Amino acid sequence: MASPIQPPDLTQCQKADVPGGSSPKCCLPSDPVKATDFQIDASLPMRVRMASHLLDAAYITKYNRAYELMRALPDDDPRSFSQQASVHCAFCQSAYLQKNSNEKLQIHFSWLFYPWHRWYLYFHERILAKMLNDDTFALPFWNWDNQAIFSPLPNVIPAVFIEKPALVDNTRAPSHQPPTLVDLTYSGKPGGLDPEQQRAENNNLMHQELVSGAKTPSLFFGQAYRAGDANAPGPGSVERAPHTAVHLWTGGDMGNFGTAGRDPIFYSHHANVDRLWNVWKSLGGRRKDITDPDWLNAEFVFYDENATLIKVKVGDAVSTEKLRYTYQNVPNPWITHISSPLSISIAGTKPVSSNGVASPAAAEATSLLEEIEEFGEEVEGKFKQLAGSAFQSKVKRPVKDLFRTLKKQITDEELEEVLVIQGVEVPSDKISKFDVFINLPDANDKTSINIPEFAGTFVNVPHLGMAPGMNRKATLRIGIGDKLEQLGIKDVSSIVVTLVPKGQGKDVPIVIKGIKIEYE
Ligand code: C2O
Repeated sequence: MASPIQPPDLTQCQKADVPGGSSPKCCLPSDPVKATDFQIDASLPMRVRMASHLLDAAYITKYNRAYELMRALPDDDPRSFSQQASVHCAFCQSAYLQKNSNEKLQIHFSWLFYPWHRWYLYFHERILAKMLNDDTFALPFWNWDNQAIFSPLPNVIPAVFIEKPALVDNTRAPSHQPPTLVDLTYSGKPGGLDPEQQRAENNNLMHQELVSGAKTPSLFFGQAYRAGDANAPGPGSVERAPHTAVHLWTGGDMGNFGTAGRDPIFYSHHANVDRLWNVWKSLGGRRKDITDPDWLNAEFVFYDENATLIKVKVGDAVSTEKLRYTYQNVPNPWITHISSPLSISIAGTKPVSSNGVASPAAAEATSLLEEIEEFGEEVEGKFKQLAGSAFQSKVKRPVKDLFRTLKKQITDEELEEVLVIQGVEVPSDKISKFDVFINLPDANDKTSINIPEFAGTFVNVPHLGMAPGMNRKATLRIGIGDKLEQLGIKDVSSIVVTLVPKGQGKDVPIVIKGIKIEYE
């Protein structure tokens, strides 16, 4: 019953709609010739992708020259810069249907996010190398997760993208030029944090989305997406944020999936996302690639450096070394980041002593929490619209044994507790965002996210050309095992979850249909 996603028929483009775009919109050159199977050229030199804030003058010249040449190719060449941008547009605006299906093909918001973007960058990089006639060329990565305080700063828009003409995009948010620090949970409104707070929040978000909240493959990669499935079943942790937030924060073309590929910084942004896949795997435990054959055998097509249509498999992309590239070593200090204890930062909440044991005051606070009602799992007809203000719900923790028998191969200690927010629906054409807090009923849009109670965030990047009323649907899954331990509430029978709409998302209707806890 294997049913991996198959490459679409490129001759059947649905002409995804980008307002003001030329016609045909986002459609890729269609080749009646069958795609050639990918073969790695083992004679390629090992290429090293370097941090874009650390490039030397010679490399910067080369990098700019490569894009100059790519931009000079005729528009109908699949290797041209505009065609490269169209590739992204086509697969995020659903220009194609899945093969033998009426379901739209979408490579975001599912387990295809990482491998599809890895392949996309792979061919993009090979085309740039071809422009230069230099097989050693590697795409620099924008090291926005690095909150180092020394110049040149990694977590601002790197100078190359401002100073080198072929790497510039004039549509970026004017207020986010250096030295403004990137906001890894940006939601369309300035956070107004001082640099030190911004760094701390960025670090805690990184720690949450890669370390404590993403201990299993599905939490990290996102949900299964097989042939015939409705698209966008649910994104993984990093895809939600920081990935999405960096798009919005950069703004302009980057702020919309349909146009993001028109900004050269896009490819450097995604090189960092790609690097984080490797970093995540290096953290150990259950942090390994998906072994499901429907993931490993999913296939895509791309045009290569010779403008030949190539068919690739997810399974051939799990090792960057096999693809003959690697990343410059940079520090990832967020791996060990510890957020500030809440009892100091916010009044009126439960103090937890430094050794993680709940104090007598905690017991009192817990009884307060008891008064909050339970929203419960998704059932037909029930929904809650978050309209600007926070929403609290009690959530029962189910019996672990039930799940343990289903997952026999996973040890007790490795079984991860997962908070599931079901039936999230947001307007496709608008920015929306909410944060998730645990046992902090009075969390609001001013609450710092550099606290142990912060569990995760949901950010939507708009899709252009969506009819009003079109909703993006998703399930949000957040690993909370470490969090409950850190909060000293490993043994409670239920927790309180608070959802806080934020930024521009405050005014956008966000619907949820259920909240529950599972083990996986
Ligand atoms: Cu294809 Cu950053 O999105």
